[in-house]
This record gives sequence, structure tokens and C-alpha cells, in this order.
Amino acid sequence: MIDTASERRALAGRLVQAGVLTTPAWRAAVESVPRELFLNPGVFLQEEGRWRPVTAVGSDPEKWVKIAYTLDTLTTQLDGHLTADQVSEPVAGLPTSSSTTPALVVGMIESLDVETGHQVLEIGTGTGYSAAVMCHRLGEDNVTTVEVDPEVAARADAALEAAGFSTWTVTGDGLLGHPRRAPYDRVIATCAVRRIPHTWIRQTKPGGIIVATVGTWANGSGLAKVTVNGDGTAEGQIIGRASFMQARSQAAVPVSGDLSARTAYADSDRETKVSPLMLDEWMPAFLAQLAAPGAQYVRAATSEGAQLLYLFDPERESFAEFTPNGDGWRVRQGGPVALWDNVEQALTAWQAAGSPDITAVRLHITAGCHTYWIGGLQITTRASSHWIGDESALRWRHRLTGP
Ligand SMILES: C[S@@+](CC[C@H](N)C(=O)[O-])C[C@H]1O[C@@H](n2cnc3c(N)ncnc32)[C@H](O)[C@@H]1O
Repeated sequence: MIDTASERRALAGRLVQAGVLTTPAWRAAVESVPRELFLNPGVFLQEEGRWRPVTAVGSDPEKWVKIAYTLDTLTTQLDGHLTADQVSEPVAGLPTSSSTTPALVVGMIESLDVETGHQVLEIGTGTGYSAAVMCHRLGEDNVTTVEVDPEVAARADAALEAAGFSTWTVTGDGLLGHPRRAPYDRVIATCAVRRIPHTWIRQTKPGGIIVATVGTWANGSGLAKVTVNGDGTAEGQIIGRASFMQARSQAAVPVSGDLSARTAYADSDRETKVSPLMLDEWMPAFLAQLAAPGAQYVRAATSEGAQLLYLFDPERESFAEFTPNGDGWRVRQGGPVALWDNVEQALTAWQAAGSPDITAVRLHITAGCHTYWIGGLQITTRASSHWIGDESALRWRHRLTGP
């Protein structure tokens, strides 16, 4: 086995240079934890729209180490079951577990502001690498990590043991936290959530911090950092952009099939006030998810190559279909929720407030709702009384208040 001490030091150096790694104790952890231990049996590398399997066994050791110490996110599982040792040729599939780029997880860990002796709960163990980094700094008894996929959890547990950490690796739904080891000083989620579950707030000590990615669109999610109050509420802000795979029970089924059937009956047809192409940008995409929770932004093309642009909310049977109209766009909307009316109202209010960056977003959380302030714009997403404990039964209402 190759000694990777110099690669670990180089990785830490790159993270310091990038401004991600600032605390000496975390630098020592990055320099100590061998990332390659957490990549067994292998990874999938993206190549021409497919995933090429690369396993540790059978790879040139130097090439393998080079892969392990890139700053890339390394996908370790596709479609909820496939690992790199099970195939020999490039395959299609959706990533369902990975070792996230250290540039993101180490940055998140830094933003937790931990102190010696703190108890940390991590949601989304994945490979176990981030748990190992935290074990190095805090001790194995102070880190509890929850992974929903039993096979992923077993591999992470074995890797953590191999790295010398007998930590608390729990198999279960992290949306429930892990009450048995609560209360925690810090909670960190390395999978994205629609909203910060109230269970996490209940399981965090007053004054404790939760860092988690909120959102459902990969290119429009926000990294939330909130401090828990003693009364079951929490408040804080979005501290940056982050893109994570969604918590499994919340992952949306991508809209596919006959799109024209979904848009057959419209209730309105008008010109848009702003371009729907704004949704390709991060902050407008973030706002769109708040204004139309459950909506998916879909780009497609006809067989002749004409671009098609939609918002779909399958659960609410609602759609918005956009077509170019001279210099602007027209929108046809149908279904019980006028998706684009809501999104457009948020976008125009945001523009009127000077188009602030995502880091200007403040967040207040109660048991029933998340309230976001963006300049003078306030958006509240609420879990209604229809909520019966099943995330898929969650209904959302929202209120928009212009500046
Ligand atoms: C991006 S990976 C985690 C990265 C990891 N912490 C690392 O070291 O880089 C996200 C993980 O979250 C897990 N996950 C998804 N939904 C979950 C849930 N509800 N509870 C716990 N884990 C979940 C996935 O199975 C996946 O392994």
C-alpha cells in the first residue's frame, strides 16, 4: 500500500489556498485521514455522459491515489445499488452515494464552529470520509453518523474501522436524526433536504448549530447555517451555494414521457414579465423553489431541435410552458397552482430589492414553517396540517410579500 502522507498534505495545502481550510486542528485532520481508505471497492468517473468504473483492486496504485486526491466528488454508488466492482464497462445511472469534494465537506465542517468535546450528528455518512475527519478532531465517541442505505453504511463502518475510528455509524433515516444519542452540539447534513427537519432542531442543544443544504434543485440549493434557540425555533442564514444529492425519501422522480399530454389544458396564456431563462442562474433557481415548492424546471428539445422550457409540479398536477415570443417569452399555465405567477412574483420582488446574493438570505424556522427574508422579500414555506409524518404527504403553502 502506498503511503499517501504527501498527497494528504498537498490536499490540505490546496484547501488552505482556496480559503476553505482555516483551522489548524482541521488541517491536521485532513492531513491525517487517508481518503483512499473510504473509496472501496471503487468509484465511477464521468466520461462522455456515462460512468466509467474504476476499482482500487486492479488499478495502477499511483493512478488510484491520484484519483483519490483530486478535489472532485467521487461517485461510489449508482441507482441505489450499483458499485464499481459490479461492472467493467461504462454505464448510465444516477449517483446515489459519493465521497463529496473535500472543498465542500471540509468547508462545511469548518463552518460548524466546533469546540473540543462537542457532540456532532452527521446525516449522510456516504463513504465515511467526513465522519473520519470529524472523529480525528473530536474523538470517535463524539461523532454519530446516520446513513440510510445499509450497504453504504456497512462499507463506511468498515472504512472508519480501518482508519482507526470505532464511531457510532447508524443505519437509518437521517431525517429522524438519532434521538438515542441526543442532544447534540452540532448537526451537519451531507445530503440535501427540502427543509430542516424539526427533529434535528429538537435534538440540538440551545445555542447549537445546524449546517445543511436546503433545496431540491442541484443548481439552486443553499447552504443554511442556523443556531437553535431554547424554544424549538432556529435562526440563521444561507452562507453559500451547495449542491448535494437529495435525502432519499425526498428525491423527486424526474418528469419524463409525453410532455405535451401534461400541458394539454391551460388556464391562462400571457407574456412573461421576466425571462424564464433566469432559472438557469443559481439565486433565481433558489427563489423559484421557495415560491413553487415541488416544481421541477425541465429543459427539453423537439426532434427538430427547438428548445422547450417548462415548470412541472407533478404532485399538484400543475405546469407552466414557455415559448419564445419575439424578444420575450409567453407562458401557458395550467392546474391548481399558477407556478410561474408565484415564481415571477418572487423574481421581480428580488430584482426590485437589487438582486441580492444568496448569502443575503436570512432564515427563521419554527415547528410549522421556514421563513426566508431576502431584502424586503419574505417567503414562508409551511408544512400544513395535512402532514401525516410521510414526507411525500407534505403539503406546502407559501406567502409572498413584496418589498
Ligand atoms: C453525498 S453522500 C455523503 C458524503 C459523505 N458524508 C462524505 O464523506 O463525503 C450522501 C449520502 O447521504 C445518504 N442519504 C440520503 N438520504 C439519507 C437519509 N434520509 N438519511 C441518511 N442518509 C441519507 C446517501 O445514501 C449518501 O450515501
